[in-house]
Amino acid sequence: MELKQTYAEEIALELNGLVELDEIVNLIEQPKSDTQGDLAFPCFTLAKAAKKSPVNIAKEQAQAISHPYFEKVVAEGPYVNCFYNKPDVSLVVMKEILHKDAGYGSSEIGQTKTVTLDFSSPNIAKPFSMGHLRSTVIGNSLANISEKCGYKTIRINHLGDWGTQFGKLITAYKLWGNEQQVKEAPISELLKLYVKFHDEAEKNAELANEARLWFKKLEDGNEEAQHLWKWFREESLQEFAKIYQLLDVEFDSYNGEAFYNDKMDEVVELLVEKHLLIKSEGADVVDLSDYSLPPLLIRKSDGATLYGTRDLAAALFRKRSYQFDQSFYVVGQEQTLHFKQLFLVLEKMGYEWPKDMVHVPFGFILKDGKKMSTRKGGVILLEQVIKEAIALAENNIAEKNPALPDKEEVAKMVGVGAIIFHDLKNDRQSNIEFSLSDMLKFEGATGPYVQYTHARARSILSKSAIDLTLLNPAGLNDPYSWPIIKRLLAFPEVISKSFDYAEPSQIAKYLISLAQEFNTYYAHVKILSEDIELEGRLALVQSVAIVLKEGLRLLGIKAPERM
Ligand code: ARG
Repeated sequence: MELKQTYAEEIALELNGLVELDEIVNLIEQPKSDTQGDLAFPCFTLAKAAKKSPVNIAKEQAQAISHPYFEKVVAEGPYVNCFYNKPDVSLVVMKEILHKDAGYGSSEIGQTKTVTLDFSSPNIAKPFSMGHLRSTVIGNSLANISEKCGYKTIRINHLGDWGTQFGKLITAYKLWGNEQQVKEAPISELLKLYVKFHDEAEKNAELANEARLWFKKLEDGNEEAQHLWKWFREESLQEFAKIYQLLDVEFDSYNGEAFYNDKMDEVVELLVEKHLLIKSEGADVVDLSDYSLPPLLIRKSDGATLYGTRDLAAALFRKRSYQFDQSFYVVGQEQTLHFKQLFLVLEKMGYEWPKDMVHVPFGFILKDGKKMSTRKGGVILLEQVIKEAIALAENNIAEKNPALPDKEEVAKMVGVGAIIFHDLKNDRQSNIEFSLSDMLKFEGATGPYVQYTHARARSILSKSAIDLTLLNPAGLNDPYSWPIIKRLLAFPEVISKSFDYAEPSQIAKYLISLAQEFNTYYAHVKILSEDIELEGRLALVQSVAIVLKEGLRLLGIKAPERM
C-alpha cells in the first residue's frame, strides 16, 4: 500500500528537494496511540535543513497538506500527524486485496537474488528430535516468506548422514544387532544400539577405538561399512519422509554430510595453500585464537574429517552451485560457536561472501525445565505427537461437525496446524517447555483458532450470492471495521520484517490479532443485513479470509474452507 509513500510525497511537495523523498519515507512513524493519527512525521531533520524550528515547520506542513486519503493533518509539537480518511482508505485497501488475492503482500525485494536455507537436517539412525521439528517448521516458514519476498529460494536438508557416530553404530550392530528387528522398527532399533554402545563403552575403552576404526573404513570406502551405512541411511530416510509428508514439507536438495565426502580434499588443500592449517595434538586445525575462539577441527590424527570440514565443503559447494546472495542455517542455539567458527574460517580463506551467511538459532525444547538428550534416550517420538494431534482434531470434528465432508483431510490440516503454530507463535530464540496438552490446544492463540476464523469468514461469504469480483464496494466507516482495515494494511510490512528478522512469529502474532479483531467485528456487526454497506462488509470479510489464509500458508499451515 502506498499510503506512506503518498504522505511522504505530500510532505516533499513543499520542500523543493531540501530532503530526499526516500529519507522522508524512512522518517515516517506509526504513532503508538490512535489519537495521534495513522502516520506521524517528525520534523527535526527538515528543521535542520530549512534552518527553522521543528515546531514551526510542523505547523507549516500541517497547513499545506491536503489529499483525499487524509481526513486531517495536524501539527502536534514537532510532529505532523496524519489521519486517514476511513471510507476512502478502507476502499483502497480492500480493492487491492481482492484484486491481488493470495498475491497481496508479495514483494520484489528479492528479485534476481537467491537465498539458500539449510534446515531440518536430522541425523540418520537417530530419532527426529523436537529440535529438528523446530528447525523444520521455522526453516520451512522462512523459505515460504523468502519466496513471498521475491527471492529464488533453495531448501536444503543437510542430513547428518556421516561422522563418527556411524563407526559406533556399525560396531554396535556387528556386536548386538539383528537385521529383522532393524527392518521392523529402524529408528528405535538403531537408537537402542547407539545407546547400548555408549553404556558399554563406559566399561570397555576398546569399543571407542573400534568405532573409530570403522568410521575410518567407511570413509576409505570399505565395502561392508558402506553397505551397512547405506542400509541405515535408507531406512532412516523412509522414516523421516513420513514426518515430512505429515508436515507437508519439501526440499530441493538432500545433499547431506556424506555428499561432501569426495569434496574434502579440496578443502584441506585450500587451507594448506592459505597457510591456515596447523597441527595441534596430532590433529589438523584452523587457529582462531585471534578471535578468542577455540580452533576449528579439520582432520583428526587418523585423517578422518569432521562436521566442520564438511560444512566448509558444503559452503563452497553452495556458493558455486547457487551463487547465493544470502545463506541461512536454521540450527539450534547450541551450535552458535560452530557457525561462528565456520564463517570466520571462510573469511580467513579470503572469501568476501561469508558476510552473507547467517546462523538462525532457536531455543531449546525443555522437558521439566531440562534439555532433552538423545543419548540418554530421553526423546519423544515426533510422529506419535503429530498423529495424536490429528486424532484429537478428528474427535473434535466428530463431535461438533459430524456432517463435514473431507473429515480426514481437515483433521490433518488442523492437527498439524496446531503443532506448527504452537512453535511459530513464540519468538524463535525463546525456550519452549514441552507440553503435549499445550501443543494440542485448539483455543486461544492457536493455529486452529486462526483456521476456524478463516472458515467462519468463508462460511459468511458462502451465504451471499454477490460476486465481489464484479463490484465496487462502498467504503466502510464503522468503529469495528477500522482496526481490521489497519491490520490488513500492515500485512506487507509484517512479511518483510519477519524476513529481515528471520522471525515467523511476527506473522503468527499478526494472524492472532487479525482473527481477534475479526471475531469482535463479527460479534458486533450484522454483516449480512441488506443495506448500502453490505458489499463493503462482504469485501472486508473476503479480504480477511484472503489474508488469514495467505498468512497461514506462509507459516506452512493449510486453511480449510470448512471445519
Ligand atoms: N545434523 C545436525 C544436527 O542435528 C544439524 C546440521 C545443520 N546444518 C549444518 N549445515 N551444519 O545437529
